[in-house]
Amino acid sequence: MSSAASSVPVDASASAPGLPGSPAPVAGEPGPAASALVRAIRGQRTDRLPVWFMRQAGRSLPEYRDLRVGTRMLDACLTPDLAAEITLQPVRRHGVDAGIFFSDIVVPLRLAGIAVEIEPGRGPVFADPVRTASDVAKIVAIDPDAVSVAAEPVREAVRIVTGELGATPLIGFAGAPFTLAAYLVEGGPSKEHLRARAMMHADPEAWHALAGWLARVSQGFLRAQTDAGASAVQLFDSWAGSLSVADYRAFVAPHSRAALAGVDAPRIHFGVGTAHLLADMRLDGTTDAVGVDWRTPLDEAVTVLGADVTVQGNIDPALLQAPWHVIETHVRDVIARGRAARAHILNLGHGVPPETDPDVLTRIVALAREADA
Ligand code: CP3
Repeated sequence: MSSAASSVPVDASASAPGLPGSPAPVAGEPGPAASALVRAIRGQRTDRLPVWFMRQAGRSLPEYRDLRVGTRMLDACLTPDLAAEITLQPVRRHGVDAGIFFSDIVVPLRLAGIAVEIEPGRGPVFADPVRTASDVAKIVAIDPDAVSVAAEPVREAVRIVTGELGATPLIGFAGAPFTLAAYLVEGGPSKEHLRARAMMHADPEAWHALAGWLARVSQGFLRAQTDAGASAVQLFDSWAGSLSVADYRAFVAPHSRAALAGVDAPRIHFGVGTAHLLADMRLDGTTDAVGVDWRTPLDEAVTVLGADVTVQGNIDPALLQAPWHVIETHVRDVIARGRAARAHILNLGHGVPPETDPDVLTRIVALAREADA
């Protein structure tokens, strides 16, 4: 099992934006719906353990850093040729089982006309934080359907990518309402997301209005990607770990469920520090797979999640800096524990740190190919 990216152009001439991609699909050949990744999300084990990496497109790749020179992050996300090329880079280089669309969780908020920038080394920053009931009223007056209409550059980029990927699936994604609100209410990155969590209790009506609106916007962003050809979706609730179980159930889960419901594609739901929330993150069956961070061994996660959901994860991103023999032992352990689930998608427990040597990721893909799935 060596030819990793069989359907992806590896020809170096295809590495510039807009250049010809893979040949037109041949009728009857298996497409992305038959891929190991899509089957795993749906609960089927195949003889191939699917592997991809959160944040595989980005600063760990020198070819990404070269392309990004002189272009702001959100402008890059909304330039179809550039977003498509950046999405394809890690698929070509590592031979992973899926592309993850190059974009950002705040892109749909930019499309809604909200003033947001991504500051390098810091993250999303909003000029006007949404803190009061009247701030919320202004935001929710923006029509979520207009956001979907404005997502044409996203659809265009997805069409380019899926045309090139052939039988390799593209994963579309969105931020979950709580993680988006954690930035929007705070105005930027924060450690414990105190203002968003305070709003839930201080003004539940404003909170539910905001989170309900964010759910519609996230769903529109996911649909833009699936309509244009993405084969699966992942909802990132990266900061949900800061919530109590009670708050998660009352203030967050219904909105995440609404964001994912109605998206007609296999679904993955991911959070960080969510050991106490794992069972609830199934969203009453609205998700097909749950992403687990590095803190919870996958076999333990399965005892909480049950046998009828797929797990994704959970290589510790910190270990990517360790000597190879340490990484190899760890990855083999993750794979062994993943066998407890109905199906397993090998991934990190969170995103690729920018300082990662990309060759390590390529070696992990080779290890997954050897593994007896
Ligand atoms: O490869 C991929 O995973 C696809 C692209 C992707 C990006 N952001 C690109 C990006 C995805 C899926 C995201 C999601 C995202 N964005 C999340 C959820 C995932 C997670 O990591 O928990 C969150 C919380 C954000 C918000 C955000 N955007 C942060 C915290 C940062 C990092 C800021 C920094 O410079 O350290 C960003 C910027 C960002 N998003 C970069 C990339 C490649 C780096 C920007 C750059 O290269 O200049």
